[in-house]
Amino acid sequence: MEKRATIVGSGHYLPPKVVTNNDLAAMFPTSDEWITQRTGIRERRFIEESPTGASDLALPAAKMAIEQAGRDIKDVDAIIFATLSPDINFPGSGCFLGHKLGLPGVPALDIRNQCSGFIYGLSVADAWIRSGMYRNVLVCGAEVHSTGLDFSERGRDVAVLFGDGAGVALVGEATGDSKGICALELHADGSGAEDLCLLAPMSRNIPRLTQEMFDEGLHYPRMNGRQVFRWATQKMPEVAMSVLAKAGLTIDDIDLFVPHQANMRINQMVAGKLGIADEKVVHNIQRYGNTTAATIPIGISESWREGKLGPGSKVLTVAFGAGFTWAGGVIEF
Ligand code: UT7
Repeated sequence: MEKRATIVGSGHYLPPKVVTNNDLAAMFPTSDEWITQRTGIRERRFIEESPTGASDLALPAAKMAIEQAGRDIKDVDAIIFATLSPDINFPGSGCFLGHKLGLPGVPALDIRNQCSGFIYGLSVADAWIRSGMYRNVLVCGAEVHSTGLDFSERGRDVAVLFGDGAGVALVGEATGDSKGICALELHADGSGAEDLCLLAPMSRNIPRLTQEMFDEGLHYPRMNGRQVFRWATQKMPEVAMSVLAKAGLTIDDIDLFVPHQANMRINQMVAGKLGIADEKVVHNIQRYGNTTAATIPIGISESWREGKLGPGSKVLTVAFGAGFTWAGGVIEF
């Protein structure tokens, strides 16, 4: 019989330090009122001490996912690591994580798809498992944003949005009646690449980093917020409907919707366009802000533990982010 892949375990980890909107307002001109009204974010988590990389946040999340699946660390035969904030520029965080897990020789693939990174990673794991190449693939999304944000008036539109965290799924073979990963869809359009990006250091420039770039703040992420908002609220519903059709399902069949969390207003507009009831929509942006590649696996892991998903649940997930990249998936647990 044809192999099918599914998420067999999930885990998440958020650093304990809570940073409220008022904490940010003490650093640069902003307010709890502005942040709450425009984004829905009330607080986020930041790492507290150096060195703490994305791989350090992914480590406890990975162990939690392996344990939930009833597997052993030694069962993991491949690692996929989605992040835009790797521990260092190279090598990738997947290599650091494999070493910390004690998995010498196990392949580690880092991918650079920002907010869509988890779904892109899931698609690779799905193909590996269905082809028989690997049996237990860790798909990680982890970010340390807090060390790279511009905490001044210049960067306030971006700095208030992001938080640190990690989410991991262990992807293995689906057994029994569960269909597992039913459909996945991936997209990219580089015409929006510089609407949300971090430019420096840039290898296309001689030298990669100049004093001028530094003074201009090109080593901080920048965003054309309104443009990203427009694209996100168009592409997320579009990819949701398309991936549902591929899975042969309608929105009424869906038990839980896990959208990427960039802005509560985006969550609400996307859910509204899809006509899905708010009680089926996962929102964790209030507590964690935007954790990019970590957002969706954190949402899945928390929902699983809260009993919002279980055997037989049909989950729809969609993401939109820098690239632009966007993606969707339907998974039957
Ligand atoms: O995960 C990747 C995907 N990212 C997204 O999907 C984010 C999409 N974009 C957004 O969520 C929204 O565009 C933002 C939340 C980033 C911004 O909201 P907005 O309603 O589009 O505000 P704006 O950028 O148009 O700025 C409105 C005003 C400006 O002042 P003026 O020019 O009207 O006087 C800004 O200077 O708000 C000001 N502003 C702030 N004020 C207080 C911008 N950032 C802040 C701030 N605190 N942090």
